[in-house]
Amino acid sequence: MTLRQVQDVKKIAGQRVLLRLDLNVPLEQGRVLAADAWRIERSLPTIKYLLRHRAKVIVVAHLGRPQGRVVPALSLRPVARYLGRRLKQPVPLWKHDWIKLADQSRSLSAGQLALLENIRFQPREQLDCAVLAKRLAQLADIYVNDAFSNIHRQDTSMYMITKYLPSYAGLLLQDEIKYLTKVLNTRRQLSVIFGGAKISTKIKLINKFVSRGQVFLGGALANTMLKARGHDIGRSLVDDDGLAAARKLTGPRVHLPVDVVVAQSLGARSGRAVKANQVPEKYFIADLGPQTVKNYLAILKKQKVIVWNGPLGYFENEKFMVASRTMLLALSRFKAEVIIGGGETVAMVNKLKLQNKFSFVSTGGGAMLTFLEGAPLPSLEVLKK
Ligand code: 3PG
Repeated sequence: MTLRQVQDVKKIAGQRVLLRLDLNVPLEQGRVLAADAWRIERSLPTIKYLLRHRAKVIVVAHLGRPQGRVVPALSLRPVARYLGRRLKQPVPLWKHDWIKLADQSRSLSAGQLALLENIRFQPREQLDCAVLAKRLAQLADIYVNDAFSNIHRQDTSMYMITKYLPSYAGLLLQDEIKYLTKVLNTRRQLSVIFGGAKISTKIKLINKFVSRGQVFLGGALANTMLKARGHDIGRSLVDDDGLAAARKLTGPRVHLPVDVVVAQSLGARSGRAVKANQVPEKYFIADLGPQTVKNYLAILKKQKVIVWNGPLGYFENEKFMVASRTMLLALSRFKAEVIIGGGETVAMVNKLKLQNKFSFVSTGGGAMLTFLEGAPLPSLEVLKK
């Protein structure tokens, strides 16, 4: 895939650049913690490239899912502060006052950067709307998209905007596409570890991967599979919408837990391992059991390419991050090519300080999976040469 790249722009100096980033990071009491800032950090090379080339940069980004309403807790102000500290220059946060914004964008000096307030405060952002696209386009001369982790969305500031401004891919987006294209096109078996909550949104993907390699399941996704197979799983989290599809997902390449760790509350200080078909009525599945981890690793050890997305247990409680931690540590020592993606999975990798131990850590969760599924990504298509 050949994209129009930001490096193709002949004259950047003095140009107003609308830079779409994915700065969707968790906030802790209104602050961005360094440990959670990896998406912002991965956006810095493109920001710095533009500033170094004396562009006037206006960043567009979203935070959470405010659904077109102004939600003060989802303001990008903490992100503006974080960026300011990292860039060692003031980063003003601009409100969506379109008349004022036109003046503000013209008054920006070369080498300055401003951040536009959460674009999802605009009801039109997620409607791929020409009116909003034109408003955004008036603020800039060129558009650069570096929001790989949002590339599976056809939002206004991802797609429609490209109809009104010359558009290019940023450095992070190029990197992600280059690496993941190599993975997508590999002739080798591609095995995946899937955790997280919803099987209904991942079922197509799981089916796709079953034809390419082994599939290992954990999290509520595995609970749904166990229930679909008639096991009693107590009070475990289940994706009821995915049950019918889960019943059809069978075969020797689909690996399910043989044992699980159960607990009575999310905050429990410990859990106990039981067979996957013997979850007591008042308990819920909190993690994969030790035998399952052993079984998974024994097969994974023979794989050449492994993709992982989604935690295998209720990782918010450290006691139930055991399976995910054990598997991540083991995989970090494997010779296989290991690709990690998804906000929660990457958060665990960062917590364990394993960032540099894998072949690739993608900033995308849904975006990475959609890309690897081979599904069309309109917001990427529009950046092709
Ligand atoms: C993400 O965090 O994966 C992206 O920012 C996309 O967010 P969304 O799932 O709310 O569209």
